[in-house]
Amino acid sequence: MAIILAIETSCDDTSVAVLESGKVLSNIIASQAIHNEWGGIVPELASREHISNISQTTRAALVKSGKKIEDIEAVAVTHKPGLSGSLIVGTSFAKGLALSLKIPIYPIDHIEGHLYSAAIESTELEFPFISLVVSGGHTSIFDVRSFDEYKVLGSTIDDAAGEAYDKTAKLLGLGYPGGPIIDELAQKGDANFYSFPRPLLREKNLNFSFSGLKTSVRYYVKKHYPESVGLEKDIPNLCASVQAAINEVLVLKTIRAAKTNGITNITINGGVSANSDLRNRFMSIGEANNLKVFFPSLEYSIDNAAMIGFLADARFSSGNKDLGNDFRFRVNSIAIRSRKD
Ligand code: KG4
Ligand code: ZN
Repeated sequence: MAIILAIETSCDDTSVAVLESGKVLSNIIASQAIHNEWGGIVPELASREHISNISQTTRAALVKSGKKIEDIEAVAVTHKPGLSGSLIVGTSFAKGLALSLKIPIYPIDHIEGHLYSAAIESTELEFPFISLVVSGGHTSIFDVRSFDEYKVLGSTIDDAAGEAYDKTAKLLGLGYPGGPIIDELAQKGDANFYSFPRPLLREKNLNFSFSGLKTSVRYYVKKHYPESVGLEKDIPNLCASVQAAINEVLVLKTIRAAKTNGITNITINGGVSANSDLRNRFMSIGEANNLKVFFPSLEYSIDNAAMIGFLADARFSSGNKDLGNDFRFRVNSIAIRSRKD
């Protein structure tokens, strides 16, 4: 397929990308700072921000790509999963654009977009591979066989890992989103300061559970720092200890998935993959076990439209010319993150 304009609005980032034959020409991501003061994403505000951002984000993506709107030959858009109101803004805009330009439209699953995002930049990544998708809304391990074939090996049974980072940071009074803040503070802390629980670590399945972590942090803080006395000086140690608890489980289960399925390529995707301790752990354990570990660069790892356009191109370029002509598709909000504790 030639030139695609891709739109992603499943959560709180408005993103538009332009790709030519699978190569990313532009990938603009407009993040919504408005949620920071609420300590989590407010769905109603997210939809409103998408409406206000989407036209100028599209214009910026076109300008950066050097293409004109008439050059676009297909539109790709995230239609699930996500916040319904957010998805409706992106899909309605995409349908309007495709109808007015008389070009096909490809609805794409957001998680599938994440699954293949490491292939945007890497020519070395080969099927089959194990993919860990780890963000504020999702924590799942996949066995990926082709652009059309994959299966879920395990998922979180409650909170996503990013949610665990965000909720712990909130408990410690550190702000939102919590992941990057904990990452930075943990670099000055001692990961052995306290051993928080590693749920399901010893169980053979590849599921995760992170909801108990915030409760243990809450109890720990209540017991050891009444009225928050002395808490501040221990914050880096607590951050390092919480980070170690989350990351140890993520790494161990992903490596186990690779080994038990005899797969040597691993990709780590989603916002939490930016975590420096997680990267270090994966790189060293990968090396020790002769596994190739791929981290997409950050702009393709967080929510972005390039991964949506890339998958549409990969799936349909060889494809069925009838695909893309059905404008009746709906949005589907399954598996959204919970907004607050
Ligand atoms: O993929 P993403 O941008 O959006 C979705 O959730 O879909 O991921 C956002 C999540 C947030 O929970 C944020 O705290 C987490 O990724 N995150 C991190 C880091 N950077 C972002 N978590 C740990 N360490 C980081 N450096
Ligand atoms: Zn995502």
